[in-house]
Amino acid sequence: MKRVGIIGVGEYLPKKVLTNADLEKMVDTSDEWIITRTGIKERRLAASNEATSDLAGKAAQAALENARLKSADIDLIIVATTTPDAPFPSVACFLQTLIGAKKAVCFDVSAACAGFVYAISIAYQFISRGAYKNALVVGSEVLSRVTDYQDRNTCVLFGDGAGAVVLSEVKSGGILSIYLGSDGANADLLKIPAGGSRHPASQETIDNRLHYIKMQGNELFKLAVTIMTQVAQTALKDAGLECKDIDLVIPHQANMRIIMAMAKKLGLVAEKIYLNIEKYGNMSSASTAVALCEAVKQGRIKKGDIVLLDAFGAGLVWGACVIKW
Ligand code: ACO
Repeated sequence: MKRVGIIGVGEYLPKKVLTNADLEKMVDTSDEWIITRTGIKERRLAASNEATSDLAGKAAQAALENARLKSADIDLIIVATTTPDAPFPSVACFLQTLIGAKKAVCFDVSAACAGFVYAISIAYQFISRGAYKNALVVGSEVLSRVTDYQDRNTCVLFGDGAGAVVLSEVKSGGILSIYLGSDGANADLLKIPAGGSRHPASQETIDNRLHYIKMQGNELFKLAVTIMTQVAQTALKDAGLECKDIDLVIPHQANMRIIMAMAKKLGLVAEKIYLNIEKYGNMSSASTAVALCEAVKQGRIKKGDIVLLDAFGAGLVWGACVIKW
């Protein structure tokens, strides 16, 4: 088995900013409620001519440059997304053409907010067994297209963005453990009811606003805290490590209170948690991806550091990954 690590990172955030003050004009909410209940101050919105693959393309280019690789060096592209450009073809295939990675094998992964960790786990399998050399893994979302800006329960939470990493064989460190899990029995807690084979688009689904995110936030909140804590503990145990060994946690950025409750249960001080929820809100699969990229670029992650990715989302799905940088 080859040792696999992240050799390049890159992110892209659309320029347009949607602030809490903007949302106050759209629904019955307040800056104070949003900040105290979620920790979010603003989020980014893709331009009307930007689709998920466009965001992915910019993040991917940045990651390739950072890895000092050319697109022709990429053997595998996996895009984690819940908001593909279209039901098919995959975002990964659009991305392949955008960046000119002609020899790459391309597909998408649907695992909501844990999608980036799921995609990393797949790339890890291929590279560690020697099937492929270099993989591009991207978390990219344009959640603003499936967010109901008439529903205050959800519209304050979500934003758009993309983060990309290049995985390859490394001489030291790299991925130490990956732990994934799913619970389809709780699928109803967070979903987009229509637009698929169960409820194809119709006048009725449009009139009933069924193409937008529906969420039972309170139930999810409790599950997120419990599961994200357990997932972190299991991934660390699998890596032969303990919480005290962690240098930085990159958690899914769904809610500041979820992250802080998890940190408390794990006995981690705030300095060991990377947060960007204030600037971007919840970007589903792009949240952990963008946070990881930013943390590397800001020097919060240095060679030899132990980094824990920890994500949870619709499905339900969850996943954690321990990496020695
Ligand atoms: N502004 C003002 N009031 C609001 C707003 C708002 N934007 N949204 C809800 N409220 C109200 C509710 O209507 C409710 O009022 P009521 O008591 O009169 O009925 C009150 O605030 C409390 O609502 P709760 O839902 O209990 O609020 P809570 O503290 O749970 O916070 C939140 C809601 C932020 C959604 C939280 O539950 C949460 O973050 N849940 C987890 C989300 C998550 O982890 N999702 C999974 C990952 S995301 C993915 O996979 C795409």
